[in-house]
Amino acid sequence: MSEEFASSSAASDLGSFCGIGVGPGMPGLIPVAAWQFVQDADIILLPRAKSAKRSIARNCLPAHQIPEDRFRDFEFAMGSDRTLLAEHYSRQADEIGQNVCAGKRVAYLTIGDPLTYSTYIYILRALQERFPEIPCRTYPGVTSYSALAAATGFALGEGKERVLISPCPDARLELRRLIEAHDVVVLLKIGERLPMVLRLLSEMEIDDHCVFGAQVGMENEILRFGTSEMNAADASGYLSTMLIRRKPIESRHMVTATADIQEIGELELT
Ligand SMILES: C[S@@+](CC[C@H](N)C(=O)[O-])C[C@H]1O[C@@H](n2cnc3c(N)ncnc32)[C@H](O)[C@@H]1O
Repeated sequence: MSEEFASSSAASDLGSFCGIGVGPGMPGLIPVAAWQFVQDADIILLPRAKSAKRSIARNCLPAHQIPEDRFRDFEFAMGSDRTLLAEHYSRQADEIGQNVCAGKRVAYLTIGDPLTYSTYIYILRALQERFPEIPCRTYPGVTSYSALAAATGFALGEGKERVLISPCPDARLELRRLIEAHDVVVLLKIGERLPMVLRLLSEMEIDDHCVFGAQVGMENEILRFGTSEMNAADASGYLSTMLIRRKPIESRHMVTATADIQEIGELELT
């Protein structure tokens, strides 16, 4: 914990709250500073969907290093009713706030980066609204798409390329427009839209330039280099991400070689 963060809480006997990105799959992907906070934390909150048996974030921590009694499952809300969601996050923020006011150090673990499409964003907002005096810090994490790029050697952006990060649209036409307007599209939250995405990439004849990853870094990881041979039924699911490149990568070696030839040609002409 930084001195500034520690002293702001020590001065008032407040504890502190920290959002921490882990994984997204491989155990041990966590910044050193964030890991120190987790080791010192009194309460480690593990957000978990109602349907999930165990928190994915928990599996991303180094094993057997933290006493069991510090972990607490924290069910996150699904659904589209904004009033119900707001009530849910307010209740959770109150629980966290009361613990921090009682001097506890509370860590909230998320998969990947906490401020990238994460329920942590709503919790943090509710907490800051209801307990403005509480010291909050967010440690960034490795996003799912960075992990997929690293696993497949896919360059997310070179030179002046424009990169878009987007949840997968429902409509094929909308996705097509996004791809046409960018050099690289990072597609999250694909789920059951995968067959539509695969059809579109094939129709645009760009399926060779794309990579797909599901459960990246986990035991059941699926990686595909090029998507033309993919079977949607084998690879759909909640944790899937795609990196779409509109054009094939130009080889730098080829570009340099062509430039050299032109220079030589011009020299010979003069
Ligand atoms: C709620 S968002 C969370 C994003 C996360 N905070 C991040 O930094 O990437 C869930 C989406 O992240 C992506 N995702 C998360 N973990 C993943 C993994 N291990 N492999 C592939 N995609 C993953 C999927 O697109 C999934 O639909």
